[in-house]
Amino acid sequence: MKKTVPYIVNLKNKEIISMVTAYDYPSAKAASEADIDIILVGDSLAQVVLGHEDTLSVTVEEMLHHVKAVTNAKPKPLVVADMPYMSYHVDLADTLRNAAKFIQIGKADAVKVEGGSKRRETIQALVNAEIPVMGHLGLTPQSKNMMGGYKVQGKTLELAKKLFEDALLIQELGCFSMVLEGVPSIVAESISEALEIPTIGIGAGKSTDGQVLVLHDILGMKSKEYVDAKFVKRYSKQYEDTVEALKSYKSEVQNKKFPTENHSYAMGADLQESLEEWKKEIKKILS
Ligand code: KIV
Repeated sequence: MKKTVPYIVNLKNKEIISMVTAYDYPSAKAASEADIDIILVGDSLAQVVLGHEDTLSVTVEEMLHHVKAVTNAKPKPLVVADMPYMSYHVDLADTLRNAAKFIQIGKADAVKVEGGSKRRETIQALVNAEIPVMGHLGLTPQSKNMMGGYKVQGKTLELAKKLFEDALLIQELGCFSMVLEGVPSIVAESISEALEIPTIGIGAGKSTDGQVLVLHDILGMKSKEYVDAKFVKRYSKQYEDTVEALKSYKSEVQNKKFPTENHSYAMGADLQESLEEWKKEIKKILS
């Protein structure tokens, strides 16, 4: 069964929501088979798969390429496309055109935008255009220059209050759910209790209505020198396994252990009968 926006909203207070990022066809297939609730084609792909320093330089066209790869897998999880930096900051007409690309061409089910009261008109316009919106509050990576880096948000009473008010506001504007990233657990818990829509936490403790992690963090698809954020838990060691597999492949290729007969095509009966003739043909071609 395909998971829809009302289905996700209805999970609140019934089941904890699972969300992961996926940026391509095989990952979307795997997330679907694992019965994950939401796939986020996150702008984190800028760092995770394109190797950029932050999320700020990824474009709508680059994101769209990955959204299409994900939806080509026809996954059962709800697919949310992350609106990249500057795709919803200039004017509303541009915002709507960009979001519509993710829905019409990318076949995503919803979009995600970062920010609270500053995004009032943006969220309103998207919802009025029948585009479901997931909000994103707290440590919003697209604001990293304004925040002076990736810093936990809402740590003082005043800032926690602002976060709380923003959460109520974006619910009122029509967001169907929201990510709470990098906020103290107690703040995330109070917001989650007060809202009717589900909250999905990342670095926000265990009391949110769901959790999200970046797929490559879950899989451990990161080289040794990469330092994980405090909230990351690796469930696999795919980077090391990949290096080992590639070393084995190289060694077998060099030692002529791969390919074996099992990985090779046999000649047809016809060619077998005329093998001598074939050898003569080759000599003729080479002479
Ligand atoms: O882009 C992303 O992966 C995200 C999640 C961390 C929520 O926004």
